[in-house]
Amino acid sequence: MSGSQATTDGDLGQVLASAVSRRRNFAIISHPDAGKTTLTEKLLLYGGAIQQAGAVKARGEQRKVTSDWMELEKQRGISITSTVLQFDYNAITINLLDTPGHQDFSEDTYRTLAAADNAVMLEDAAKGLEPQTRKLFEVCRMREIPIFTFINKMDRPGREPLTLLDEIESELGLTPWAVNWPIGSGEQFRGVIDRRTKEVVLFSRAERGKQASEQRLSFDDPALRELVEEELLDLAIEEMEFLEAAGAELDIEMVHAGELTPVFFGSAMTNFGVRPFLDAFLEMAQRPIARSSSDGLVDPLREGFSGFVFKLQANMDPRHRDRVAFVRICSGRFEKDMTVKHARTGKAIRLSRPQKLFGQDRAVVEDAYPGDVIGLNNPGMFSIGDTLYVGSKVEYEGIPCFSPEIFSWLRNPNPSAFKNFRKGVNELREEGAVQILYDIDESKRDPILAAVGQLQLEVVQHRLESEYGVETRLEPMGFQVARWISGGWAELEKVGRIFNCKTVRDAWNRPVLLFKNEWNLNQLREDHPELELSSVAPVVSGVEPISL
Ligand code: G4P
Repeated sequence: MSGSQATTDGDLGQVLASAVSRRRNFAIISHPDAGKTTLTEKLLLYGGAIQQAGAVKARGEQRKVTSDWMELEKQRGISITSTVLQFDYNAITINLLDTPGHQDFSEDTYRTLAAADNAVMLEDAAKGLEPQTRKLFEVCRMREIPIFTFINKMDRPGREPLTLLDEIESELGLTPWAVNWPIGSGEQFRGVIDRRTKEVVLFSRAERGKQASEQRLSFDDPALRELVEEELLDLAIEEMEFLEAAGAELDIEMVHAGELTPVFFGSAMTNFGVRPFLDAFLEMAQRPIARSSSDGLVDPLREGFSGFVFKLQANMDPRHRDRVAFVRICSGRFEKDMTVKHARTGKAIRLSRPQKLFGQDRAVVEDAYPGDVIGLNNPGMFSIGDTLYVGSKVEYEGIPCFSPEIFSWLRNPNPSAFKNFRKGVNELREEGAVQILYDIDESKRDPILAAVGQLQLEVVQHRLESEYGVETRLEPMGFQVARWISGGWAELEKVGRIFNCKTVRDAWNRPVLLFKNEWNLNQLREDHPELELSSVAPVVSGVEPISL
């Protein structure tokens, strides 16, 4: 028996309370190129999780060696895989849920956000809000996730800081509260003033990629006017006075409700403003929170362990052909070798080889707490959204699938490869790499791939070839819109024949209607207003999916 198992209930309560109070969990939402990799790397440096700048990228290189399909990332220069990075900083355990950078994989990001308690919205100062950030922000809003904004690349010419704040307010409906305020920008960027402490942190330019030095002095130190041009300082002060006059307060309850975003200005590349950001973030961020379940809110301090699967990934390491289910712990203490109940099937499962993952590195986990993420071997029994628990039954709200916009037959030109084709299609569906639909005519056995972005289809094809040894052909179907029918087959039958639409089945044998465009969909709505259509697949419980 491990030492931790020997603790009494009273001790466990204390251990749990202490662990939860020391945990923060977040994901970064941004548009590609805003600097997510760079910021992540700097945060890891502070946590001592990496020893040198460039290690995240080096890790990336290594990753490409360990997994074939990431070859595609290399070819395209994109980031597809999501990983979880855990590190300690100032006695706080931080779980950074990394998300793929490419928009075609936003579905993966949506799922990751389901496991996050906080989000960092990273903007490029020259670009402001960009499409991918807006899209991901909407998911945060839906889930009421607190958002902390880091405006990056202040060392380069950018947009007016007040304009950037205004954009957040007017376009996202989120009240911004600048925690620090920049003095100048671009070539004339001189540093930031902390609005709460009135401390000035001066920036001095270093060689590209090198850390800038940070000199600190008080706002009313006379030396300040010798170090910074008068007009830049006066402008910054004037703008700060304008912010004060506008009157918003840094209200932590509003931050936690996702209504107000603390904003920080800095430069990840030169490591300017990153540590103050991390310190303030840890002070203000939400701890692991109570989560909605079939039984109401589940407190993280509930002593029985519970958690849900938010991501599955096969073949992370092709040498082992393994499949990993990532579980976000929501309550209680997780212990190695514990036996848990699988809510969807009611089966008891012993979790004997739980892993902690750091990027692609793994270590066996002895115990873990709410807010943490563990990786479990998945012999095929876990699906995205599944709940695991100990004690009285808990079932967390599932994670909806987003409406696909691209549909393509997946052909297997080589019948002798059918066994591998089937295995690959089933495993990649289970992983959520793509949604699979089937023709209602059962003699047409080829699956239909349904995705959010074209690249998602290419990755599936690439992985089928490199991981399962099957070459496939995609045959685009020309549909753009999918709708589920709330009443299922019975409702559909009442309607009779529908024109300009193809009916298919999803992996849970539910009818899905495919349309060439919105116009055709609207026509159906007009003809049959009684039909309840949904763009999001209803969450499934208690049934096994159809396999190819
Ligand atoms: P991403 O993960 O969000 O896609 O962005 P990433 O960190 O890869 O950064 C995109 C580019 O922006 C990189 O330049 C990076 O160096 C640069 N960058 C990030 N933060 C800052 C900053 O604070 N100031 C400036 N000036 N640049 C920044 P690159 O040329 O594409 O790559 P690299 O040659 O630097 O590796």
